[in-house]
Parts: sequence; C-alpha cells; structure tokens
Amino acid sequence: MTGRTAVTVRVPAKVNVQLAVGGARPDGFHDLANVFLAVGLYDEVTAAPAPALRVTATGPDTDRVPLDRTNLAARAAELLAARYGIAPDVHLHIAKDIPVAGGMAGGSADAAGALVACDALWGTGASREELLEICAELGSDVPFSLVGGAALGLGRGELLTPLEVGGVGAGAFHWVFAVADGGLSTPAVYAEFDRLNEGVDVPEPEASPGLMDALRAGDAAALAGALSNDLQPAALSLRPSLAATLSAGTAAGALAALVSGSGPTTAFLAKDAESAVAVADAVVASGTCRAARVAVGPVAGATVV
Ligand code: C5P
Repeated sequence: MTGRTAVTVRVPAKVNVQLAVGGARPDGFHDLANVFLAVGLYDEVTAAPAPALRVTATGPDTDRVPLDRTNLAARAAELLAARYGIAPDVHLHIAKDIPVAGGMAGGSADAAGALVACDALWGTGASREELLEICAELGSDVPFSLVGGAALGLGRGELLTPLEVGGVGAGAFHWVFAVADGGLSTPAVYAEFDRLNEGVDVPEPEASPGLMDALRAGDAAALAGALSNDLQPAALSLRPSLAATLSAGTAAGALAALVSGSGPTTAFLAKDAESAVAVADAVVASGTCRAARVAVGPVAGATVV
C-alpha cells in the first residue's frame, strides 16, 4: 500500500477508423487490422481501499453494467493483485459517460482505468509491458484503452503499433457519436459477421495505406474517404434502424458516417467543430437516436487525474 486514500483515472472511448475483419480462427476470435482512434468521451474509475472487492457505477444506463466480478474492471483488479500476491481489496467506482455496450470500448476503458488506478493505489509499480500483458488477457480492446492516441491493432486487436496523427495535433478530427437505445453484444455481431460471410473466402485483413496517410496528414476529407468497418453490415443486419441514423448525419453535412466498432453507436466525421454541432443537432432532430455527443480525437489514453 502507498498510503494513498483514492486514485482516479480518466480513460477515453474509441472509434475504429478501419476495422478489417478476417475469417473466424480456431479459437473463435477473428484476426483484425483494427485502426483505433481514442476520442474525448471519458469514463472515470476511482480505486479506494475497502474491506473486499466492490464495484459501483453511476451514469446513463448503468443498470446494464454488471457490478459483480464479471465486470472487467473487477477482473483487472484481481489479475493485478494475483500477480503481486496481494488481496484485491478495493472499491472501484466507475463514473460512466461512454455509452454502455455501444461499440466504443467503454467496458475496456473501465478495465484499463481500474488497472492503472489499482497499480497506483497499491504501489505495485508494474511496468508498461506488464500492464499491457494484463490488458490483453482482459480483452482485445483493453490494451488500446491504456495507450490511447491512434494505433493499429493486429492479431485480435491487442498487438498495437502507435500511429502518428498530423494536423493540429491532439484532437485533430471532429466527431459526432449518435447514441442508440440499448446495446449490441460484440460476440453476437461477430457471429452475424460469420453468418453473412458463410461460404465466402474472407481475405486476410490489411491496414489501408490511404487511411494511414490521411491520419498522418490530419486530413479529415481524406480520412472520410478511407473509413471502413467490416462489422457494419452485421450491426445493420441486427439493428436495421441504424441506417436511418447514418443517413440523417450525412444529410446534415457529415463528411462520412459509419457504425462505431460492433455498434450500435454510429460515428460521424465532421469538417470542423461547428459542423460537428450541426450534425449532432440534426441526428437528434431526426428522432432516429437517443442522444448525440461531439468529441475530438486523438486524445491520450488512461491518465491518473
Ligand atoms: O476480446 P473481447 O473479450 O473483447 O472479445 C469479445 C468477443 O468478441 C469475443 O468473445 C469474440 O466473440 C469477439 N471477437 C472476435 N475477434 C476479435 C475480437 C473479439 O471474434 N478480434
């Protein structure tokens, strides 16, 4: 113990600017070329000493967040404690702002946040490599939640290479996220991807050079032309109403629209901050989504506040 009373960590959401999905592997996962961008919607995870492991959560839709040991944040605390031979006696409080089960890695963010918060609270002093190893054990998107910025994820998404983003630096791109009613299960969306691709020879996923160039240049118009998500047909098949949200955003001047990860959140790339507000107003006015949020990206990963 470090004698600290509580540690709070802020962790961003992500959008996949490219999600290229290969065929199903023998272990049930899919090889990916997954280009992540961290965006400025945040969950905050606070770790405080407690007699036993306990999880609480506040924010929209937290009735759908498990508060038992199946919560990825609780599992993060347990894995770190086990590695250092200590008891995971901690109260984890999650202040949620990232849409729940929305395809924006909210659960992964909470896991990365809990890991960094417990490491600081317990003074375990785990190396970055150790933390990333634990993240990869927790889930395919968790390592990216730790590092943030922009990165290419290979394997099942956990093997990260940081990517340079040009333009005006942090927050180079302006996004709008339309929050749908209810969530979508990531395994269900991957299963639908498999069903839709039955009998198809799915090519090896590869990162798009044009997309990497657009990121490097900080060129929103070029990025708009290169955005892609192989899970989008599966998400639309399970939730056909998302098509109307996508159309409402493009009609309002978004440079491009796509499903965020496995959905059901939809993402709109805007020309600038002003256009992002107009797109957000229009998607809400269309009545096809519950709420809209504007956010910039890239932003930093898990950070002690
Ligand atoms: O790794 P994570 O626990 O986030 O994955 C959740 C589910 O998403 C997996 O059980 C699997 O069904 C699917 N998945 C996949 N291929 C990936 C990542 C996730 O099939 N690369």
